[in-house]
Amino acid sequence: MNTRIRPNVARLTAYTPGEQPDDPQVVKLNTNENPYPPAPAVQEVLRTVQAADLRLYPDPVCRELRTAIAEVHGCTPDHVFCGNGSDEILSLCIRAFCPNRGRIGYFEPSYSLYPVLAAVADVGVAPLPLAEDFTCPPIPPRYDVPVFFWTNPNAPTSMAAPLEDVAALADGSEGVVVLDEAYADFAAAQAEAWAWERPNLLVTRTFSKSYALAGIRLGYALGHPDLIAALFKIKDAYNVDRLTQQIGLAAITDQAYLQSLVSRIKATRARTVEALQQRGYGVALSQTNFLWIKPPADCTAADCFAAWRAQGVLVRYFPGERTGHHLRVTIGTDAQMARFIEVVDLPLPKATTQHAKADNGTGC
Ligand SMILES: Cc1ncc(COP(=O)(O)O)c(C=O)c1O
Repeated sequence: MNTRIRPNVARLTAYTPGEQPDDPQVVKLNTNENPYPPAPAVQEVLRTVQAADLRLYPDPVCRELRTAIAEVHGCTPDHVFCGNGSDEILSLCIRAFCPNRGRIGYFEPSYSLYPVLAAVADVGVAPLPLAEDFTCPPIPPRYDVPVFFWTNPNAPTSMAAPLEDVAALADGSEGVVVLDEAYADFAAAQAEAWAWERPNLLVTRTFSKSYALAGIRLGYALGHPDLIAALFKIKDAYNVDRLTQQIGLAAITDQAYLQSLVSRIKATRARTVEALQQRGYGVALSQTNFLWIKPPADCTAADCFAAWRAQGVLVRYFPGERTGHHLRVTIGTDAQMARFIEVVDLPLPKATTQHAKADNGTGC
């Protein structure tokens, strides 16, 4: 072992991002990206951007972008923090709110980045297993952690917990509850209004999913100005670049376009659920842009994953006790989902399990 490397980093198993194949023919249903382009105004930003402007540092506090986000959510810019993807904000939350020797909490399975961020920050973890049916269990008495990450709707299971339960956890906790709402635009209910009323509930959102902008890396947090100010104190000076701020502003200003994307994806989601159920697949009640599916009894998730991959349809398979009987399938365009169902209908080749690609994360 190289003793120059901090022991927690040397021990760390890094986060496993989803595969990004080079082949454009692959039907890519593995990383919960949006299959449609972002708002037309984004293209206009890219057409008119002046390379010479990139000489200058960006606005370190994203004033204009935060004002636009605040308008959408009915708060003030003091309630808004912007980050280099919501992943950066999750990392900052541990550094800002979890003391040395503290532990972070989260449900398991949920977003597998949380324990990685804890290991990087050299703090402990206190995961709570989801119930057998993947619903959130009651929080045990005396369970209190300085930071609890509640992914809602959850990934990879796609299901949403009642917002009242999240609020109850915050109300009964001394710590900060970070409500990771990466997929909330596809859900029936969103929780930002709950954050204004509480000093310890922070909501995180991303431009990567509903806004179709995973490529620029932009996320934001909504919450009490004290929590927001703490994030500002510790962030990198220029954590959101100039182009990203302009693109984010263009995208968030066009809420009608956002709603049109969300409606399209929800309609495709409903059709795909029906097609899978007709074929004997179990499908969790999705409030996201992906499905959590269980193959019929005569085939395993690993076999389906490998067989579909061989046909050029890539979904996400997470081996393991809790997750290894399911697959996560991103909702693509209607044409992509039609191809997916075609592949589902093919007979499975025998004994493909050993070819299934190992994947130890449950993230994007
Ligand atoms: C639950 C959850 N939170 C956060 C993220 C990261 O979002 P971003 O692209 O904004 O970093 C993901 C990515 O898939 C996710 O699944």
